[in-house]
Amino acid sequence: MRTFVALDLPQGFEDDVAALSRQLAAVVEGRFMARETYHITLAFLGEVDERESQLAIEALQQACSELRAIELRCDGLGKFGKPNDATLWLGLQQSPQLMELAQRVRDELTARGIGFDEKAFKPHITLARRARIPRQWLPSLAFPADDVATCVTLYKSTLSSAGAEYKPLYTVELE
Ligand code: 2AM
Repeated sequence: MRTFVALDLPQGFEDDVAALSRQLAAVVEGRFMARETYHITLAFLGEVDERESQLAIEALQQACSELRAIELRCDGLGKFGKPNDATLWLGLQQSPQLMELAQRVRDELTARGIGFDEKAFKPHITLARRARIPRQWLPSLAFPADDVATCVTLYKSTLSSAGAEYKPLYTVELE
């Protein structure tokens, strides 16, 4: 199965992201993501078997032990890819807490021999794929209010023509 580890968004923050996404969808063409898919990927594992997914759960438990809730602060919009075929995302501030969480998850995966995409961690929430980015943004977008995130989840991702579906396999709650 295809898996990844992500920080989940609290409800109020998710509501605000959905509202921002609606504002953007009015002016940007693209395949906007359903709000159920919003998350901040900490490590993308790709294909793992049953044994490896168990080890990933152990890695999650160890990485999150004694960690406190993580503050979320938006850091503007960004894109991956070409302007006429981009992944449009909302960035998060790279606070020491958030960066430490991602590093601990990755270190614990490595300690158990579980591979993952080693691209540097760039905290973001994907809002749309296949987006055509206009030259100028709307001047008055409402960004999500600061909040705290308390759940780290191992997800199974199932790809289909309708897009990816993410199913939680295991969640750790931060203190
Ligand atoms: P994205 O948000 O930038 O699209 C499930 O695919 C999640 O894992 C998505 O959030 C995706 O990032 C992220 N991810 C990170 N590295 C990936 C990779 N190499 N392939 C697919 N998804 C990846």
